Amino acid sequence: MCGITGYIGEKAATDILVDGLKRLEYRGYDSCGVAGITPKHGLYLKRVSGRVDALDAIIAKDPLRKGVIGIGHTRWATHGVPSEDNAHPHTDCDNQVVIVHNGIIENYLEIKEKLLKTGHKFKSETDTEIVVHLIEEKIKSLNKTGKSGDGDLLEPVFFEAVRRAIEELRGSFAMTILWAKCPNMLLAARQHSPLVIGLGDGENFIASDVSAFLKHTKKAVFLNDGEMAVVKKDSVKYFNFKGNKVEHASVTIQWDSTMAEKGGYKHFMLKEIHEQPESVENTLRGRLLPLKGDILQQEINLPSELIRNIKGVQIIACGTAYHAGMVGRYVFENFGLPASVDFASEFSDRAKIINKDIFIIAVSQSGETADTLYAVREAKASGAKVLAITNTLGSTLTREADFVLYTHCGPEIGVASTKAFIGQMAAMYVLAIHFAVIRGNIFDADARKYVNELLKIPRLIEATLANEGVISDVADHFAKSEHFLFIARHINFPIALEGALKIKEISYVHAEGYAAGEMKHGPIAIIYKGMPVLAIATTSKMLSLVANNIEEAKARGAEVIAIVDEDSREFIKAPRYIVVPRTLEILSPLLTVIPLQLFAYFIALAKKCDIDKPRNLAKSVTVR
Ligand code: M6R
Repeated sequence: MCGITGYIGEKAATDILVDGLKRLEYRGYDSCGVAGITPKHGLYLKRVSGRVDALDAIIAKDPLRKGVIGIGHTRWATHGVPSEDNAHPHTDCDNQVVIVHNGIIENYLEIKEKLLKTGHKFKSETDTEIVVHLIEEKIKSLNKTGKSGDGDLLEPVFFEAVRRAIEELRGSFAMTILWAKCPNMLLAARQHSPLVIGLGDGENFIASDVSAFLKHTKKAVFLNDGEMAVVKKDSVKYFNFKGNKVEHASVTIQWDSTMAEKGGYKHFMLKEIHEQPESVENTLRGRLLPLKGDILQQEINLPSELIRNIKGVQIIACGTAYHAGMVGRYVFENFGLPASVDFASEFSDRAKIINKDIFIIAVSQSGETADTLYAVREAKASGAKVLAITNTLGSTLTREADFVLYTHCGPEIGVASTKAFIGQMAAMYVLAIHFAVIRGNIFDADARKYVNELLKIPRLIEATLANEGVISDVADHFAKSEHFLFIARHINFPIALEGALKIKEISYVHAEGYAAGEMKHGPIAIIYKGMPVLAIATTSKMLSLVANNIEEAKARGAEVIAIVDEDSREFIKAPRYIVVPRTLEILSPLLTVIPLQLFAYFIALAKKCDIDKPRNLAKSVTVR
């Protein structure tokens, strides 16, 4: 989510910053900018709405390219639509302090309100801008605004102002800050968002990841959460947020820059699968109050009255997003609200059965899927209110929907959706619990139980990912199979469909997802000796029935791979197991999907398929 670059040294900073931004564009590319200082022109700043090439073109002949210190940013919008005004860097009221930021400041509205009262003027809709005004405020209160001169004397003031501002922030951030009055230093800080320092000879770099500076240096220091760095051309010093010094040893990076963009993973898909703990965290962040069991509405602004009055929910989506919608349906129903789900392409003609009592939830990673947009228009014409669950700020869907819940998963590059899917499911849980609380369908104590368990999910996903080796071995064993079957019941049925879809998309092999109970009504006929059948058999009230279905498949020669948890394993007899951690039954799709994504990935890898850009597919389908 967003790419940051920073440079201080003796070379033309802008060239290095812009080149670094091009390498970070995979992190987001809806707007970008650079800021720097030259002795002749003071602080300068250039931003564009669009890609880094456009920025490069407008500053091609700019004399300001001569500065030797600067910061840069390429943005994936989270707060505020993609536009030049919302592009980073952002400045304080006097255009003296300038910042680039990656992450989400959860309490920005609170802070903004206070700053507005003390006369600060805001130029953007971003959460980031409050940070730079807060720093300005702290500099003022430290009462040394630079009258005594520029440079080294003011450096402690700059450091302390940023440190004090950080103390007031809640949320996630990686940021780099420049103050015109301290032209010999950059400040960097990290909390729950990556930031790395590149150590050069007479020059130093800051970036969201090493790919931005690998061609200049391979020596790097990865900041930890809660740390700041004071970066000068000949030195870097590290501190914690209390202002105490910390030590860091540098590491030598062995990757080339393409490997680095993918974080060392072979494909974006694998990287995105591994980013899922963070995706869930980002979707939940600021929305769940663990102790109150309530959900913050700041962003979606859904009136409680609307939630109380609706008679049902209709979910519409396509592809993987549709599978998230199916999970959503089970969750809403579990909390006592009737829900149905439809392919957007099928829903349009049925939209006439919709009225204002039905609440529409449209799910779309891109927010640009033509089928989904068309269905939303039809639903609105029938008088329904629409909430969009999307990953893409400023997308058409966000403009057409009445309410928006962002998943904040960051750009998904792999055509096969993985981290966006998990974000969509997490958003469904947030909404369904919230609706249940407002409608009085669950006790607070129960809501708290779900919320507390949801908050554990990122760590459980990490534990599931640690099983990658086992999954890769199983996939290698079956890589030559021409057919795959995925079976599950109830809330994991959509995950069986999703597992099959992943294999089809990236391996071009036939795969079917089936409701396990339906197998005996016909599809069991396709099972042949040696056919791989992946069965989701985690602890649930349906486990004994799933166990029967597994036996039925085995009896016809299927090679069953059972996705189990520690407790369900003893009830399932299968030649192969993939174990996921135990969680509440209703939340289990957030874990069971992980091995299926990895399984599909390793099958495609063994088949040497073009995993990130599978044949015949596009990331966003903008035709009906
Ligand atoms: O951008 P959207 O979520 O609206 O896209 C919907 C589908 O086209 C998408 O999920 C597609 O099925 C993916 N390639 C699945 O991996």
